[in-house]
Parts: sequence; structure tokens; C-alpha cells
Amino acid sequence: MSLINSRFYEAERFLWDERAATLEEQVLLPIQDHIEMGMDLAELEAKLQGLDYYPILFTHAFGTPEISSDRIAKSLSQFVRSIVSTDSKFDRALKDAGVTFVDEDVPKLTLLSEQENLGREIFYNGYKGATCSYCHGGAMNVNDEAKNNGLDLVYSDNGKGEITGRDSDMALFKVPALRNVALTAPYMHDGRFATLMEVVNHYSDNVQQHPNINFRLTTLDVEDTHGPVMRLNLTRSEKEALVAFLHTLTDDTITTEEKWSDPFKN
Ligand code: HEC
Repeated sequence: MSLINSRFYEAERFLWDERAATLEEQVLLPIQDHIEMGMDLAELEAKLQGLDYYPILFTHAFGTPEISSDRIAKSLSQFVRSIVSTDSKFDRALKDAGVTFVDEDVPKLTLLSEQENLGREIFYNGYKGATCSYCHGGAMNVNDEAKNNGLDLVYSDNGKGEITGRDSDMALFKVPALRNVALTAPYMHDGRFATLMEVVNHYSDNVQQHPNINFRLTTLDVEDTHGPVMRLNLTRSEKEALVAFLHTLTDDTITTEEKWSDPFKN
């Protein structure tokens, strides 16, 4: 999932199963994970120590050249915190209308097309019972708590439940932020969906009756209940509108600004 704007996540809690309490904790995990970078932290410290430019850079940042995993975590997480996006088409349309994301009474944003405005209504305003913003809410479209969105009846990876062992946490996953989501396929914790249309088809027609399904995706719609799953039955053009709205969350400065690009490229 994307790390854009993660400095604003109030609850922090990173990774799909939320096992990293802070960004400092998160950034060291992929380095050590056997299926990601598979390195030992001591090995990493020695490796950076041996490259002539790193002690200089560590001195610039911390005052002394010492390289420790704590300093690596601090600098990596501060870099991630610098990745802030405020210039998507949706941001510009809200600014133009002089409103913030919480103003639900604005029927149409002039800078969005008819189709994008319809998608926004489906996403935010409970159109046909869709309540995307209940989970992907706020300016960050993220949620403070892990949830189940009914991908399967039986999960091979139980997300947060694998960490806590509690029945009520089984198959709960971090609600990912949706900024630049059009650029970050494939989707879900296991990358099962290749396109945003597949994601929308899931929410419209295929939500599964998992025992921990969040009430917002059920017809009961009462907190802490797990009633029968909802079928939004969105039409083809409504689905396309929702996908078009998700595309308005793309901010190209993130992919083009030099300060977030590979410093070793030149
Ligand atoms: C009950 C809470 C909830 C609701 C309501 C909800 N989502 Fe989600 N969403 C999640 C969770 C949890 C995940 C991650 C699930 C996983 O990977 O197992 C997710 C994942 C996604 C992803 C994948 C993002 C990525 O980076 O992989 C997209 C896109 C998405 N949701 C869009 C929507 C849209 C559009 C709606 C409304 C139709 C919606 N969601 C409604 C909880 C919710």
C-alpha cells in the first residue's frame, strides 16, 4: 500500500496486519524480512559504514558519523514523512469550491466532470447504500482501526488476527489510504485485484459473509453486528463513475518531484 501522507495517520499502525506501531518500527521490517530484503541489521550498519558517503550524510543529519539501526530508522521514517500530497485533481476541486472533504452539502464540484461527481457521491454520500468513506474516511481516506471487507469466507492470511490471536480480529486488515491508488495496482493485502474496476466489482457484487464482516457492508448496518452482506448492484456506468472518482485522487507531483526520486540515478 502507498505510504503517501502517512505522517498524518493519527493511529500510525503500519503494514496490512498493523503489526508496526510506528513508522520507525515499520521501516526496518522490510529490510529484515526474508521475502523482501532479507538483511540483518548489524550487516546493514556495517555495509553503510563501508560506503564513503554515508558517514558524511549521517554527520549532516545527527552531528556524528555513527551509523546505527536506530539512526537508520529515524532517517528513513523522516523521509517517508516528507512524502506529502496536496495537489490531486480532487484537492484542486475542493479548494476551488472553498470546501474541505467534510463538507457533504456541496452537490457538485465545478472542477470535476459529471462522472467524477457521481463517483464522489457514491464514495461519500451513501448513494445506493455505498459507504466507502465510513472506512476510507477523512482527508487521508484511512482508518484508525483494521476492518474486514469480506474478500473471502475463509482467509489463508488472517491479518491482525495472526498477531493478536483473538477471534474478533481474524481477517481484519489495515484500511489503506487511497491517494494515488490508480498508480498502485495490484490491490488488497494479497494483490488479488489487478484493476480498480475489479475492486469496485467486489464491493458492488461479491462481498462475502465472513463472520467478522464490518457492519457497514451488511444490510443490517448496525454497529457491532454482522448481518447479511449488502449488494450495492451498481450499474456499469455507476461503477465507471466510482473508478473515475478514484482517479481524481492521483497527484502527479508525487511521481515527478526530484526530491522523492532515486538519488543514485545520475
Ligand atoms: C468496512 C470498511 C470498508 C468499506 C466500507 C470499504 N472499504 Fe475499501 N478497504 C477496506 C479494507 C480493510 C481494505 C484492505 C482489505 C484487505 O486487503 O484485506 C480495503 C481496500 C480497498 C482498496 C485497495 C487499496 C490498495 O491499496 O490495495 C480500494 C481501492 C478500496 N478499498 C476502495 C473502496 C471503495 C471504492 C469502497 C466503497 C465502495 C470501499 N473501499 C469500502 C475497508 C473498507
